[in-house]
Amino acid sequence: MYGSTEDVERTAFRNAEKKYKLYNDNTRKKKKPRAVDLSEVIDFKSISESYHQNAELPEGISAIQSDFDSPLFCLASHPGFYFIPGALTVEEQCRWIKESLTSFPQPPNRTNHNAIYGPLQDLFAAAKDNKVLIQEEQTNNFEVEIIQNDINVPTWNFSDQSGAFSSGVTRKSVPASVLLRKLRWSTLGLQFDWSKRSYNISLPHNKIPDALCLLAERMAAPTLPLGEVFQAEAAIVNYFGLGDTLGGHVDDMEKDWSKPIISMSLACKGIFLIGGKSREVPPLAMFVRSGDVILMAGQARECFHGVPRIFTDKEHAEISSLELQFSDEEDSAFLEYIRNSRININIRQVY
Ligand code: OGA
Ligand code: MN
Repeated sequence: MYGSTEDVERTAFRNAEKKYKLYNDNTRKKKKPRAVDLSEVIDFKSISESYHQNAELPEGISAIQSDFDSPLFCLASHPGFYFIPGALTVEEQCRWIKESLTSFPQPPNRTNHNAIYGPLQDLFAAAKDNKVLIQEEQTNNFEVEIIQNDINVPTWNFSDQSGAFSSGVTRKSVPASVLLRKLRWSTLGLQFDWSKRSYNISLPHNKIPDALCLLAERMAAPTLPLGEVFQAEAAIVNYFGLGDTLGGHVDDMEKDWSKPIISMSLACKGIFLIGGKSREVPPLAMFVRSGDVILMAGQARECFHGVPRIFTDKEHAEISSLELQFSDEEDSAFLEYIRNSRININIRQVY
């Protein structure tokens, strides 16, 4: 991801990724994630709790008051980096989880599946209904393909499993549930072209939903001079299953670096690494829980960051309040998804 030629040589950032990433303990009969030493991972939830109790903060961490329920925590080592634990209410988290799964991956928004299957409509519903994605019969439809997709990509459609093989011809097929598990990103607003690592304004796109723009505006406000307003123009939604990682990178494709990137964590807890301007700088590790928001503005925008690990086990995932919200029968597909996944929405002003 991010098209970077991933460093093979060991850097301090790479070492931290290796320290926290998931390894399975294969010595036991059942595959089990190997325990990692989490003692150096910064925990803003407990920092926030003790700050409320006795106004004490660990060295290198300061707090600025905000109109959120929580103050913004800052790191002396990373000017422009802000952490707001529990910035989103459980209701807000539910809303953005639902949108991330149902509306955000809808065309014309692009996902990682576009390159192989073209635009896919209603992936989440198809997975819930046990549908299968089937390659349409290719009876001399070469020209049709070109007209439909510009490039020579065959057409795929969701179909009921029962009807999939009735015609007697074998066609390529993939269960929608597999595609949902393999959904890694979707892009909202201005579409990002990963192959060129740039925004492609000629790609068709919808405006970012107003409610998300307003939320971003509210989150960004404390990092901007009075009167300046953040304009959400693009967002990338990342989906993580157990074992998925986001390698160290810098987001440098936006014109104006004085505007923050707003990064919202949803569902299972993960570890976020923030390093320096080179991979040689040892990064700090911190927990990111559902509802936490990170702002990266100013110098922090130039820092390598990534997510080496998510936790899906009951003890570490910390999603019990979300599970309660999704306990209705009609929400069972969301419940199943969040129990095994983390979602991150990060919002950018591009120009
Ligand atoms: C990104 C990013 C961080 C996260 O998508 O650019 O840095 O917490 N995401 O998933
Ligand atoms: Mn990033």
